[in-house]
Amino acid sequence: MQTRIFLLLFLMCFPYLCSAQEIIPFPNHYEQKEGTLNVPKVVTISTNGEFSSLIPEFVKTAKRFSIQAKEKGENGFIQLIWNAALYNPEEYRLNISSNVITIEAGCANGCFYGLQSALQLISNAGVGGSISCAFIQDKPRYGWRGLMLDESRHFIGMKEVKSLLDMMALQKLNRFHWHLTDSQGWRIEIKQYPLLTTIGGIGNLTDPNAPAKYYTQAEIAEIVEYAKQRFIEVIPEIDMPGHATSATKSYPEFSGGGSERLPDFTFNPGKDVTYTFLTNILKEVTTLFPSQYIHIGGDEVHFGNQQWNILPDIQQLMKTHELKNLVEVEHYFLNRMSDSIKNLNKTVIGWDEVVNADLPISNTIVMWWRHEKPNQLEKAINKGYQVILCPRIPLYFDFIQHASHKYGRKWSSGAYAPIESVYEFPGTEFTSGVSISTPLVMGIQADLWTEVIHTPERLQFMIYPRLSALSEAAWTDDRVKKFENFNSRMDRMMTIYKNFGITFFDYRNPDSSPEIDGPSKKTQKTVE
Ligand code: ACM
Repeated sequence: MQTRIFLLLFLMCFPYLCSAQEIIPFPNHYEQKEGTLNVPKVVTISTNGEFSSLIPEFVKTAKRFSIQAKEKGENGFIQLIWNAALYNPEEYRLNISSNVITIEAGCANGCFYGLQSALQLISNAGVGGSISCAFIQDKPRYGWRGLMLDESRHFIGMKEVKSLLDMMALQKLNRFHWHLTDSQGWRIEIKQYPLLTTIGGIGNLTDPNAPAKYYTQAEIAEIVEYAKQRFIEVIPEIDMPGHATSATKSYPEFSGGGSERLPDFTFNPGKDVTYTFLTNILKEVTTLFPSQYIHIGGDEVHFGNQQWNILPDIQQLMKTHELKNLVEVEHYFLNRMSDSIKNLNKTVIGWDEVVNADLPISNTIVMWWRHEKPNQLEKAINKGYQVILCPRIPLYFDFIQHASHKYGRKWSSGAYAPIESVYEFPGTEFTSGVSISTPLVMGIQADLWTEVIHTPERLQFMIYPRLSALSEAAWTDDRVKKFENFNSRMDRMMTIYKNFGITFFDYRNPDSSPEIDGPSKKTQKTVE
């Protein structure tokens, strides 16, 4: 309520002539027209019929912008029109004339995106301000426009996740990859195995004894629904066979041991009951997430699988299946879990290590994350896998965004992830010349690991404004994408951040935008 009043006051104080060129992400086709449209005190919305069931949902999701539905048969300031010719589900047309904004789309998604563009303009102009007349025809460059959030290392909570989903939707991002399990905490209730949360949910990276924090199944359902209303698909990640300490400390009978530094880091691939346990977990997960995809991690197993060399079950497995080394054991495990997921009628997503496991092409999607291994991306594409690009540099938002920042990650070379490089992604400098102009590339995603993030304020500081650059990198064609132009539009977006009470890094005024401290005391240089 407070935010709404503040926004309203703000809008009344600063009337403004705004142009449709201010939208983020920048529209792919834009024509300026003669004339201007004044923004009324009360912004109303109506539809010609086909979209009438959407109006109550749209009004709800646009809560921070205070729009009102018109009575049936009356014309609103914003009018939604169904147009079957716009067959790309995310495509829309936006026409701003001197007395009305019309949004045409063939699907609810496109209609929603047209509305997000309109809301940005209305907010930028303010009550009593005006918008230049224009015509926009717009659809995304990539179908997968994602953000990943790790809630294992530090649990962030429902309120912050909803705020994040609001900001993703406003900027047309459409995939929320939720990293719900890792060694430092298991964050999703599984009814068949309650210890996963009552024991596995205890602790975080800063405090291993912190009280258990996790999402109940009802809370998961609430987030999934909240995201759905904003046309965002939620993809759960249950990391295996490594990064499993929170699970193996809850149910030690499934542990495959670890290393001195990472005890009980793995599940035991030598026991049949491990596969039953994990499949039962995934069965419950599939009932909560309507997404076609389940992410099973598959990353960094070698960090802590040394005990596989001595565990009798695993030695026996190697003999039975003629597995020559631990990598082959890992691949055996991944293939067996992939079969389980296929039986659940879901598609596997895995980090780029899974390319070497030769999982079935038709049922596996690869996330390329190791920026220093472009050959892994090339191999994935050459083998025919669909891929999502999320290389650490520049798309890991736990890497610092300015040379002066002290808390967060840097690569061993000193590389980090400033907003400019997020924006320029996927330029060839970030893919080492690997050709990504293939339909196998589904899209791009930023990943937010939370080893160096422990509060909502710090989380926001690391996400914003890079989220806006990500959205434009994912939506806008290279043909019309220009950083200087984006930079000039960020004034308005940063005003929206302020009105929403969001903490962000003002990258153009770093001296007056103090870094929010992280949990560790200095920048960590990372090499794998
Ligand atoms: C990863 O960053 N370990 C996928």
